[in-house]
Amino acid sequence: MLLGLHETHSGEETQQLGKALANALTENAILALSGDLGAGKTTFIQGLTQGIGSIDPRIVNSPTFALLNIYEGDKTIYHFDLYRLLKEEDFFSAGFDEYFFAGGICCIEWAEKISSKLPLNSYFINIAYSGKESRQIEISKRGDR
Ligand SMILES: Nc1ncnc2c1ncn2[C@@H]1O[C@H](COP(=O)(O)OP(=O)(O)O)[C@@H](O)[C@H]1O
Ligand SMILES: [Mg+2]
Repeated sequence: MLLGLHETHSGEETQQLGKALANALTENAILALSGDLGAGKTTFIQGLTQGIGSIDPRIVNSPTFALLNIYEGDKTIYHFDLYRLLKEEDFFSAGFDEYFFAGGICCIEWAEKISSKLPLNSYFINIAYSGKESRQIEISKRGDR
């Protein structure tokens, strides 16, 4: 089972974990990622998009200026990076929450910025440094916390 605490020792291993989680996701799944800059949120999503949509991980990057990148694969992936979001309301006034129910998969970096409004069934992925190339990655679902 993928829920729980994992430790990875390279970017590739973090991608593999993302890829493994891809198999468990159904349409309209939401992944809320948190962790410091450089922790590996984008790296995790690169593995996930590869697993879900056969999408080339090289095109997956944090959409720092646009807040949202969309990748069309076997399923559509909505990749948000909310680092520059000023306030929670801005996400909703932009209509971004419509993507929660658009039939694809939403991956949200810096999801804590909208944490009180995330749907109940969201997966939470928290990534913490535990060494130069090691990371502790906790995967949970809100109902299980
Ligand atoms: N165990 C690991 N898991 C994830 N990334 C790692 C790991 N070890 C080293 N790295 C490196 O750390 C960086 C993480 O960057 P990135 O995924 O863009 O972080 P974030 O999106 O959280 O800011 C990448 O350069 C990656 O190669
Ligand atoms: Mg990132």
